[in-house]
Amino acid sequence: MAGKKKKFYVTTPIYYVNDVPHVGTAYCIVSSDIISRWHRLLGEDVFFLTGLDENSVKTYKAAQKLGKGTRTDIQKYTDDMAKKWREVWEKLRIEYNGFIRTSEARHKKVVLQFFNEVNKKGDIYKGKYKGLYCEGCEAFITEKELVNGLCPFHKTKPVKLEEENYFFKLKKYQNQVLKYIEKNKDFIKPESKRKEIISFLKSGLKDISISRPDYGWGINLPVDKNQVFWVWFDALLNYISGSKSWPADLHIIGKDILRFHAVIWPAMLLSAGYELPKKIFAHGFLTINRQKISKSLGNAISPVYLVERYGLDALRYFFAREIPFGEDGDFSEKVLVERYNNELANKFGNLVSRVTGLAEKTGLEKTENKLIKKLKLKEIEKNFENYKFDKALNEIFAFIDICNEYVQSQKIWEAEETKARKQLYELLDCVKAIAILLWPVIPSASEKIAKNLGFKISLKNLKKPLNLKEVRKSEVLFVKIKL
Ligand code: MSP
Repeated sequence: MAGKKKKFYVTTPIYYVNDVPHVGTAYCIVSSDIISRWHRLLGEDVFFLTGLDENSVKTYKAAQKLGKGTRTDIQKYTDDMAKKWREVWEKLRIEYNGFIRTSEARHKKVVLQFFNEVNKKGDIYKGKYKGLYCEGCEAFITEKELVNGLCPFHKTKPVKLEEENYFFKLKKYQNQVLKYIEKNKDFIKPESKRKEIISFLKSGLKDISISRPDYGWGINLPVDKNQVFWVWFDALLNYISGSKSWPADLHIIGKDILRFHAVIWPAMLLSAGYELPKKIFAHGFLTINRQKISKSLGNAISPVYLVERYGLDALRYFFAREIPFGEDGDFSEKVLVERYNNELANKFGNLVSRVTGLAEKTGLEKTENKLIKKLKLKEIEKNFENYKFDKALNEIFAFIDICNEYVQSQKIWEAEETKARKQLYELLDCVKAIAILLWPVIPSASEKIAKNLGFKISLKNLKKPLNLKEVRKSEVLFVKIKL
């Protein structure tokens, strides 16, 4: 009897809908897609959730700018934007299973229920908020956090607020969250970020305001119709409203939103009596000349432009190979093109084209694949498991080099025919393994190879010998790019 598939529930942050995606926001979801595809390769039952964060002041202001002031108008604006976001994710081949928008009724239902549970617990009270609010972060910010009077992330001046709000007793959960993080060493990754959160928790928390006076958009509080939920209290709940199961196995987020996920979110869950997510991974920023890429800083590049110009695999490969996951990385079209030409086209593309070309002429003969013993599969698996995509790719490309050298050293093109046929079979079986392992990163090329060689993409099939008697020369997988 086949055993039940292991479940894996992974999430991305939900994106603010007031703008279109840029290469920085794309980085986050592409990385999550790579992880999710890796778990699919393992044969797991993956649920990959993404979506849009719509109930924010940003949305309201963006809609206002277009002269769309009423709730119906704003909803229409978010509907239009949602279409745009989904179109971009399709172009990047993000294979999500769930897409949640916080303006949906199913989300609102969860927010209200959850709030009621927190309220029943006695963790909500009414108070006055006096201080600063950064509309870029959609968060209350302290004087201490400002750099030259500006938000360090958005380089904008926060607005001064003095308003009546509802507060959540965050401080009450400070020690419980701290203990949990200290005990569960894998809860926050990478380790440097875990340490950051521990010292933040030790420095002491304050209760937080979780509502704003109703400004004409958002979800009203069940206890006070003149207030709407603060966007983060509302948005974090997408991870519950967007999926049938809880807890999530993994939240992938950018480092700028770690405190919301590693401090506020666990406290909210503890208050309402829910399990905590299994793991939170905070990745770094994509920068241009060491400046964070963002719409508000005016240095954003469209991922659609990059995909149209260089191809999807080129962009995904650059993300995974160039930037150690968890660290910041500079985006450079020059490096993208260099890596594409040198690694994808010259090494991998060349191997596939030579081996399939020779095999088309000479034919194949099934034999034991000795060459594949040089593939460091265990290490590659371990690296993917630990989100070290760059290291996994390094290992895979070291094996591609071995295969190319084998063709060269054995001079297969002039070898005796029976021997050549067997060697070509071995090489094609290796190409199969490589294509399977590269699928999370470069799905388009991998799928073309799988189609040509007639195998299904899964780790199980990596270990099964290729069943192939003849093959056609592969189309060119990576056309060289001139910059
Ligand atoms: N709406 C919130 C998230 C709520 S989750 C309950 C938000 N949205 S965002 O659109 O501003 O950002 C979405 C994600 O994109 C964040 O993880 C953020 O870190 C990431 N990135 C935005 N710019 C980025 C770079 N330049 N580089 C890497 N990631 C970037 O925050």
